[in-house]
Amino acid sequence: MLAKIEQLLQEIEGLTASNAEELEVLRIKYLSKKGAISTLMADFRNVPAEQKKEMGMKLNELKNRAQERIAELKETFEGQDNSAAELDLTRTAYPVELGTRHPLTIVRNEIINIFNRLGFTIADGPEVEDDWHVFSAMNFAEDHPARDMQDTFFIESHPDIILRTHTSSVQSRIMENTQPPIRVICPGRVYRNEAISYRAHCFFHQVEGLYIDKNVSFTDLKQVLLQFAQEMFGPNTKIRLRPSYFPFTEPSAEMDISCDICGGEGCPFCKYTGWVEILGCGMVDPAVLESNGIDSKVYTGYAFGMGVERITNLKYKVKDLRMFSENDTRFLEEFESAN
Ligand code: DAH
Repeated sequence: MLAKIEQLLQEIEGLTASNAEELEVLRIKYLSKKGAISTLMADFRNVPAEQKKEMGMKLNELKNRAQERIAELKETFEGQDNSAAELDLTRTAYPVELGTRHPLTIVRNEIINIFNRLGFTIADGPEVEDDWHVFSAMNFAEDHPARDMQDTFFIESHPDIILRTHTSSVQSRIMENTQPPIRVICPGRVYRNEAISYRAHCFFHQVEGLYIDKNVSFTDLKQVLLQFAQEMFGPNTKIRLRPSYFPFTEPSAEMDISCDICGGEGCPFCKYTGWVEILGCGMVDPAVLESNGIDSKVYTGYAFGMGVERITNLKYKVKDLRMFSENDTRFLEEFESAN
């Protein structure tokens, strides 16, 4: 038995392994239940009593040495895995891929920034709204045909609860809680029951503006909108206001900007008119002020509402509205360099 122990000790000193699998084979060969050392241990029963002590010590030594040796071998190749031979430490790191902002977010932020500089703060309201805030408080009579201007999504079990069709509903939410002066913009998503095509979608984004104070006039409205248009589309941009109709403003207007493709000369984009429409606006109808708890004899105000998709289309010449919600990264990555 002594000879066998010596032989195993020698074998163990000479072991090599260059990876975990090879090492495992060795561990099984020497240290597993049926391995060489365990087999020897089993033979220990037959060792004469007077040799038991010495033999026992030798056997233990062998076992300990075998365990140590396996651990040593493990360290040699584990160290190698991290060695410079396999990892090129001089190689530059992979560039971190930054995400890109959605074009609608970029344009919405730009709109917000412009109006912030003009003294407007941001207001918010729910997308799931009641009929009162979307229509009645905004001066749409119960059976007024103007309600048909905006195809509405209703909640089936609660016909009074709807998805807001415009951010004008936030005007009402603000007025009912705040006395003038009020100067806010309300960016948000709106919904309409429209067939989806390149020029219409069942949801889109608007930014509403509202300014109420003493002596607010149409001139103030015009000046703020001119300032906005020139910051958004360039200092040479001209604006034009055309009479229009909205239930919540009187007088009402639609605003066009000079076509920035042809500079007003006329081209297919502006249908040879030199102008493109960008928003609706007007003086807040006194009935709206009164419905929402503001004294129309003391205060006047203006309001405007614009589509973020529309402005984005004009700025970036996106021709198909559906691009904004398809999440095609090839499209989205085009906006990488914008802030
Ligand atoms: N709410 C209108 C729409 O969705 C846009 C609008 C027009 C908002 C005139 C206004 C406004 O505040 O004064 O088409």
